[in-house]
Amino acid sequence: MTEQTAFSAGAAPGALPVVGHALQMMRHPVNFMTSLSAHGDLVEIRIGPTRAYVPTHPDLLRHVLTNDRIFDKGGVFYDRARDIAGNGLVTCPFADHRRQRRLMQSAFTRPQLKLYAEAMQAEIESTASRWRDGVVFDAFPEMYGMALRTVGRTLYSTPVSPELAAKVERSFDVVLNGLFRQMFLPASIRRLPLPSQRRYRSNLDFLHQTTQRLIEDYRGSDVEHDDLLAALIASRDDDGGRLGDTEIHDQVITVMAAGTETVAGTLTWVFYLLSQHPRIEAALYEEIDAVLGGRAPRWDDLPSLSLTDRIISETLRLHPPAWLFTRLTTSPTELAGRRLPAGATVVFSPAAVAQYEEAFDDPKAFDPDRWLPERIAPAARNAYVPFGTGARKCIGDLYARTEATLGLATILGRWRVTCEPGMDVRPVPLATVYHPRRLRLRLNARTAHRMTCAVPAPVGGDAR
Ligand code: HEM
Repeated sequence: MTEQTAFSAGAAPGALPVVGHALQMMRHPVNFMTSLSAHGDLVEIRIGPTRAYVPTHPDLLRHVLTNDRIFDKGGVFYDRARDIAGNGLVTCPFADHRRQRRLMQSAFTRPQLKLYAEAMQAEIESTASRWRDGVVFDAFPEMYGMALRTVGRTLYSTPVSPELAAKVERSFDVVLNGLFRQMFLPASIRRLPLPSQRRYRSNLDFLHQTTQRLIEDYRGSDVEHDDLLAALIASRDDDGGRLGDTEIHDQVITVMAAGTETVAGTLTWVFYLLSQHPRIEAALYEEIDAVLGGRAPRWDDLPSLSLTDRIISETLRLHPPAWLFTRLTTSPTELAGRRLPAGATVVFSPAAVAQYEEAFDDPKAFDPDRWLPERIAPAARNAYVPFGTGARKCIGDLYARTEATLGLATILGRWRVTCEPGMDVRPVPLATVYHPRRLRLRLNARTAHRMTCAVPAPVGGDAR
């Protein structure tokens, strides 16, 4: 790590009394985070009344993320996330993390993922087969429904009633969308019996009770399962330790919450970016046709769908769906030459480093081929953290890539997807996961597309 004094520290202009930078963050979170590097390698912002520090230099961010004893989970985001996910893997403090991570790891090995890929594919197929030629839908809600059912099916292979599934889907929507609102609201307002607060609370209670009931039914049944929940229940560490009942409950909610909107947001932004880059879009259809020849994708196809994977990587760089996390310092420390007391809030945003000029040529451009093995520079890897890094790196990164790749290849293999006029890609204000307000997609059966589409030129650095 470079000496801390080699980094510059500054402050973001434009903080308003009481709300600080909350309005800018609500209006365009990713642009706000990207803009901060103009003010230093470590930039002070205000989230409501809370003073927080954002690393905008990739090395400084890595220092924070790899020193999780000092920069522990906590702060405005994780305080509220614990209302939902309890002391699960995302939210637990350093003191509980290594044990939980060891016990969770066995549910995320490659052989397990290969199993989940079958369940994912079955759910994606069942969603895609309900669509009809010429259908138009709003991308994010549709992708959200598909992602929630997919994560549900990999977790819990026993089918639940469609009514219960629909209720869980609605409740998760209310709770996940409410998380950031909760974060920006002062505690005094959060405690008021306002209709919005009551709605948030009752949906959260419903989710906790339903999860508890599903786990109890699952444990009580004598059916053999080979899903994610079975892997969590069976997991043992070297000393024979296992996840307790409350921990299993918290991990189930954690996986549902962490693995749904993030994947839905990624797929939604992919559709938007493809609509803006027709040559890349044409090359993607070509790859999918060449690899799959009209059949459904499988786990074994993933290495061959390499442009699909690069498109997902580049989308996650420009539009990281999970854009804000917080840490709380556990002891006084120094960052970019600034003394931070214990209890200081540090913000981790992948967007704050994703367009770092020394790491990427033309950093604002959508260029999936920058992730070709022969083109990736170490500096680019260093500045690319949509899944975080260090011990707290996303445990579901390969899961998410698998689901997004299978989803994209299935949808585009069957349908020609076009964006309807009138899109509004400004982000939904205060949504926990960054996604556009309105992106309506029209689906047309691919046979028509194959007849009319010219053979695309290869995608290269000039393909924009
Ligand atoms: C595109 C999709 C996804 C993105 C962008 C994403 C992003 C992230 C990020 C940035 C972190 C680190 C948070 C921090 O350092 O404070 C994280 C952690 C985590 N994610 Fe994901 N995630 C995605 C999908 C998933 C999926 C599908 C699952 C589960 C099936 C999942 C489960 C988790 C868990 C359990 C952690 C906590 C890991 C730990 O602290 O050890 N995520 N994710």
